Amino acid sequence: MIKAVMFDTKPYDRESFERALGDSKDISIKYYDTKLSIDTVGLAHGSDAVIVFVNDELGADVIGELYEMGVKLIALRCAGFNNVDVKAAYEKLHILRVPAYSPFAVAEFTMALLLTSVRRIHKAYNRTREFNFSLSGLTGFDLHGRTVGVIGAGKIGRAFINICNGFGMRVLAYDKFPSDGVNAEFVTPEKIYSESDIISLHCPLTDENYHMIDRDSIAAMKDGVIILNTSRGSLIDSEELLAGLLSKKIGAACLDVYEEESDLFFDDRSGHILRDDILARLLSMPNVIVTSHQAFLTDEALSNIADTTIGNIRSFFSGAELENEISYNSSFLRK
Ligand code: NAI
Repeated sequence: MIKAVMFDTKPYDRESFERALGDSKDISIKYYDTKLSIDTVGLAHGSDAVIVFVNDELGADVIGELYEMGVKLIALRCAGFNNVDVKAAYEKLHILRVPAYSPFAVAEFTMALLLTSVRRIHKAYNRTREFNFSLSGLTGFDLHGRTVGVIGAGKIGRAFINICNGFGMRVLAYDKFPSDGVNAEFVTPEKIYSESDIISLHCPLTDENYHMIDRDSIAAMKDGVIILNTSRGSLIDSEELLAGLLSKKIGAACLDVYEEESDLFFDDRSGHILRDDILARLLSMPNVIVTSHQAFLTDEALSNIADTTIGNIRSFFSGAELENEISYNSSFLRK
């Protein structure tokens, strides 16, 4: 039997993984609420695989400990792997991920955030519940004919581009490795900044694009630009985002991710004092919508995540071909 331990488990994770395992007895999973970090890595003792999510910490220290205790596999139950020191894992642990579980879930949520913001639906929802049927202050604008700039035209970016095309928007895209068949005009980041009414981030977080939305890029944007981030928080310098909102250079921001999210998101913190002043300030603004890394959360995505992760673990331990492996050096990839 393969022994796996899951960190940062939520009730919906456990439910979807138990459903995916069904009656099969080849994998046993121990579920822990706590995140994986150097303080909790001991919980992986005796396991063959760790199943982890976006805010688990897999730096060189944790990877070294996992290797020492004989863990063979890091099974990411997500697509992004910016929280894993892939170089440190090289020749020690194999890393498998779920490259796509529902690009539509994230793309549709991004459009939901945009529509909510532009048409003030969050405001209207609160008003009518208080029997306030006034429309003052709820004026939005048509998306039809507006220019949207999409940064990262991969699976999610392309799904979002197709939705934007359906709305009759002009779609610009920037991708480091542009591919064919994308229904958008590929341009430079500079052109995205100078011509877009709305900018949506859909690229992975790497060393190279950390804080790509900073003081300079914001200065190069159109006045009143709307920024959407459903990718990774650290693509945006939050302090500069706040400054841009305060100066009204930025018209609105919709954030499903936040650079300091790991100690906050996914849990009920309503009884606590929020110590992150930047986030507190952002949350106080009527033109900022923050959701806590929710874009992926659909039934379809949860089933696909569980099925693919279980499939990845089975393939690894049975010696089958691995489709979803990531490695610092491709020669370490097990074919
Ligand atoms: P993907 O790998 O299909 O597409 C990423 C695209 O970004 C690729 O076309 C790649 O060439 C491009 N790219 C890479 N580096 C770039 C750079 N420096 N500048 C511009 N483009 C660059 O990935 P997918 O599935 O579309 O996911 C995109 C990101 O969405 C993930 O990396 C993850 O951070 C985020 N995500 C967020 C979720 C949420 O719940 N909010 C859920 C799933 C993913």
